[in-house]
Amino acid sequence: MLLFALFLCLGCSEPDRAMRANAEIGQSTEDEFEVEVDEEEVTDELMGYRTNLVPYEGEPEHAETHADAASVLIWGTADVEDLFHSIDAMDPSQSVAFEPGTTFVKEHFDEEGELFGVNIMFKGPEGYDPEYGDWVWLRVRGDEASHFGRVEFCQDCHAAAVNSDFVVGFGKSE
Ligand code: HEC
Repeated sequence: MLLFALFLCLGCSEPDRAMRANAEIGQSTEDEFEVEVDEEEVTDELMGYRTNLVPYEGEPEHAETHADAASVLIWGTADVEDLFHSIDAMDPSQSVAFEPGTTFVKEHFDEEGELFGVNIMFKGPEGYDPEYGDWVWLRVRGDEASHFGRVEFCQDCHAAAVNSDFVVGFGKSE
């Protein structure tokens, strides 16, 4: 709920500011987005995922992908858990879409089972990034968010799951 309220608020206040910012630094039209989110606010909110989201599995599962992790655990918005599990990224006839405010967090564990970072997808307000489903991408290692926003290398890989709104679904890649 909190995330959703945040999105509504950001959706109404950010566009003007973002447009002005873009105009000031003279970005090309290609790089202009009508909608922005507040990085600090969104990051703070997302880092509270353990109270806002539910774990989609009982315990971390072995990961073949996201090469730096020995195992991963996905957390997500409670009311789309079934939809998430229904995803078959290999099925071209499938068409799945998520609402703004939807969040998925992939916890990364090392060989010893220690949590060392998270990768997050947060569905931003409509218009944030139309080409890539308006997802906000976030990569955190330790206490530091190393990537935030329209992160190209996340988008590139997740683009394969375009039929399920860029969401791969756990283990579907194996
Ligand atoms: C090399 C390909 C690749 C890259 C790069 C990548 N991902 Fe993923 N991601 C996957 C695959 C495959 C899954 C499905 C789970 C699994 O098998 O590990 C996944 C799952 C996820 C999930 C769980 C929701 C879902 O789609 O199933 C999140 C959240 C996520 N990735 C975030 C990110 C973020 C943030 C980045 C960039 C920092 C990123 N990913 C970069 C391949 C990638």
